[in-house]
Order: sequence, then structure tokens, then C-alpha cells
Amino acid sequence: MHQPQGPNRTCLAIVLAAGEGTRMRSSLPKVLHQVGHKSLVAHVMTAAQKAGGAEIAVVVGPARDDVAAEAKAVAAGASVFVQRDRLGTAHAVLAAREAIAKGADDILVMFADTPLVRPETLRRLRAAIAAGAAVTALGFRPQDPSGYGRLVMKGDELVAIVEDKDATAEERKITLCNGGLMVLAGASALTILDRIGNDNAKGEYYLTDAVAIARELGLKATVIETDEDDVRGINTKAQLAQAEAVLQQRLRAAAMEAGVTLIAPETVFLSSDTTFGKDVTVEPNVVFGAGVTVEDGATIRSFSHLEGAVVGKGARVGPYARLRPGAKLGQDVHIGNFVEVKAATLEDGAKANHLAYIGDARVGAKANIGAGTITCNYDGVNKHLTDIGAGAFIGTNSSLVAPVKIGDGAYVGSGSVVTKDVPADALAIARGRQVNKEGGAARLRELYSKMKKAKT
Ligand code: UD1
Ligand code: MG
Repeated sequence: MHQPQGPNRTCLAIVLAAGEGTRMRSSLPKVLHQVGHKSLVAHVMTAAQKAGGAEIAVVVGPARDDVAAEAKAVAAGASVFVQRDRLGTAHAVLAAREAIAKGADDILVMFADTPLVRPETLRRLRAAIAAGAAVTALGFRPQDPSGYGRLVMKGDELVAIVEDKDATAEERKITLCNGGLMVLAGASALTILDRIGNDNAKGEYYLTDAVAIARELGLKATVIETDEDDVRGINTKAQLAQAEAVLQQRLRAAAMEAGVTLIAPETVFLSSDTTFGKDVTVEPNVVFGAGVTVEDGATIRSFSHLEGAVVGKGARVGPYARLRPGAKLGQDVHIGNFVEVKAATLEDGAKANHLAYIGDARVGAKANIGAGTITCNYDGVNKHLTDIGAGAFIGTNSSLVAPVKIGDGAYVGSGSVVTKDVPADALAIARGRQVNKEGGAARLRELYSKMKKAKT
């Protein structure tokens, strides 16, 4: 892809994640909440990576090992800095002084609670630094500007960012607002940041003061504009849901752009990591949790829920199917209504069309699992495996008590409770024998009628 900032420019992304997030009313730190089954901080970090942010520094609050661990899980090479006292955005950036001092060309400052910023937007910010600015802010025009910093312009140069609380009545009329994230030229970043004071309404070290200071130093400050969705910050559960809605729209659009047929896109919920092959159809009302891959030509029918699963080429899932983590469906596998699959591999052409639980199992190629089949995988303490051979036929309403092995081509009679291995090509019948008593029904009815009369 064409990178306007040139291939040789280096970039450090500093992700500010020291927010308290008390308005989320949650024991989980704000930035570990998820949209599209991916944490807010992870979204920000991957956007930075996609925009060429080879180095990432995450600034966390004190005793936030959980946030630090998530940052490392997303990028093992990320460095983590602790901001002990929360003295403002510029103070938070300086917690990563050591990383800044290494001297990257572009220093991207990002907020971990602003997960929807797109890599393209970050690339545009970086390009502004490559074009000669010392500071470039990300502007947007919100419907309601109250609360946001205002961008004071002179022609196409940015003169200052005035925080809402410090703004005059005249400045508050400005509709171009500060989205928060910003990029600084590495060469002057520390000089500028070290000059930022805290003489303002909040008594905080404002990152936004970088603009006026750059100009005092004779350096250039500019703005690029983006839409509100890019800079949507999250402070509450309602805002989390709004961000989810925006992300879902993007994911659906991207899936359709890649050729997936979504019959009613607004009813399909995707994950940030859902992967689709070619010619996949997803019917209405399907939910994809994290870690799902759907291969070419597969169809996911309505009201199915999938997570941690692979759906093979041409496979059919649902309606009303549940694929749980570790479900691996081979080519042309059919999983029908009210079938749950967990930690099980179904090899090519295997079928379980109705009402079954297949957990901790292997189902061989072209095996047929009858309605009501249950793999009894759990004894209350341990999980055990069920191994079903290729071409086996499991009659309806059978319980396969694991660990148990059904050989290739074997046949299990309906209603069996199978506790012993079945050899290949054998017929297993494990149920009470049927007895027919001639006239027995009539005799029974007569007996019951007499008993009822005797009572009344
Ligand atoms: C900031 C901008 C404002 C902009 C708005 C956009 C500043 C001074 N103001 O204001 O111009 O319109 O974002 O949403 O930058 N943080 C820390 N440590 C701190 C302070 C903040 O890590 O000491 C983190 C927060 O967790 C958050 C981010 O920095 O992720 C922004 O801080 P916040 O207090 O939300 O700034 P705003 O007042 O929203
Ligand atoms: Mg904020």
C-alpha cells in the first residue's frame, strides 16, 4: 500500500490508557471493555500497527497489571509505562519519555478509549508531519461541540487549541474541535512537551498546549479533519454500545466488500477477527463470537451462534446451530438445527442434522450422527474423548459414553447407550429388547378403569 509518509520514517505510538473509567460502573478497567470482541486498547494498538507504528508505548495507571498484560498480548514488543499521578494528557505522554527519547520520526499520541480511529486517519496524520509540521491535531465537527477543545485557526495553520473550560465565549463558538489524538514530530517533541505547564482551569498538563508552544518556537502546527466516528471516545456503557454499532457497520461493509452475501446485514453480528472465504452466505440473525473462520462456499443459516470455530468449504451450519470453541468442520459438513459442537472435529462430509451434542470428539468423514445423539463427555470431574470412525452411522437418540471409540463403518442402533468400543463395521445395539404382548393394551386399559372406579 502507498504510504505517503515514505517507507523510511519511523513511528512511535504512545497509547494513553491511564483513564479511571469510573462511569463504566464496572470492575473491569475501561480500556479492557470490548467492541467487536476485542478490547478497546487492542483496537487502538492494532490501528497504530497498521499505520506503521512499529513501536508502541502504552501508558497505564498504577497497579494496572491487567492492562499491561493485554498490551503485551497484542504486541509482545510493546513497552509499558506507569503514570503514577493523573496530572493531564501531556504528563501522561511524558511517562513514556524513555521511548520518545529514542527518536522516532513521528510520535502518534492515541487515547485507549477512542477505539474506532482508522489506520488511514493515522497515516494522514503522519503525512502531515512528513510535510513539515511539528504538531498536527485531528479535527472534527461534532453536532454538539461542548466539552471539546476548540481549534483556533489562522488560514490553514493551527494557532492554538483551547480547552472548553478555558475558552472565551467567542472561542466556544468555534465548531472545529479537537478529536484528542495528535502527532508530533520526533525531533521537537520532547522540547515542546517539557515546556507544557499546568496554569489552566483544570490545573492539568494539557497535551493541547503543544500547539501554541510549537508556534512560539517558530514551528508549524496543522490540522487534518476526520468524521466523528473516528474520534468517538468511550466513557459510559451507552457510548460503548454506540461504538459497537459503528464498528459492526464497518465490519459488515468490509465483509460484503470482500464478497460475503449478508441477506440482512443489520442483523448479523461480527467480530473484529471474523474471517470469510469466497462465496459465503450468512442468513439473517447470526452471531459470530471471536475466532471464527468460514471457508469458501459455506452457508451459515439463521439464528446460529459461532465462536472459536472453523467452518470448512461448502459446509452448512444451522439454522439454530451452536459452534463453540474448538469446533472444526471439514468440507461439506452439515450441522443442522439444535446441534451443539464443542472441541470436536467433523471430517469431510460428516453430518449431524438435528438435535445433538458433539463435544470432545472426532467424527470421521461421511459419518452420520442421528437426531438426539449425545457424546457423554463429562463424568463430573474429567472430560473424555469420543472417536467416531469414517462412514459410521449413529442411530437416533444414542448416548456415547466417553471415552469410547466407534470404528469405521460401524452401526449403532437407535436408543443405544454405548459404553464399550464398537469395532469397525460392527453393529452395536445397547438397549432393552422389545417385547410385544398380544391384547396387552386392552387388558391394561381395563385394569386401570377398574382401579379408577374403585376409588370413586
Ligand atoms: C481531550 C483533549 C480535548 C479533546 C478531547 C477529545 C487534552 C488536554 N484535551 O480532553 O482537547 O477535545 O480529549 O475527546 O488533551 N489520560 C491519561 N492520564 C492523564 C489524563 C488523561 O492517561 O493524566 C488519558 C485518558 O485516560 C484518556 C485521554 O488521556 O484516554 C484523554 O483524557 P481526557 O481526560 O478524557 O481528556 P478530555 O478532557 O476528554
Ligand atoms: Mg475524554
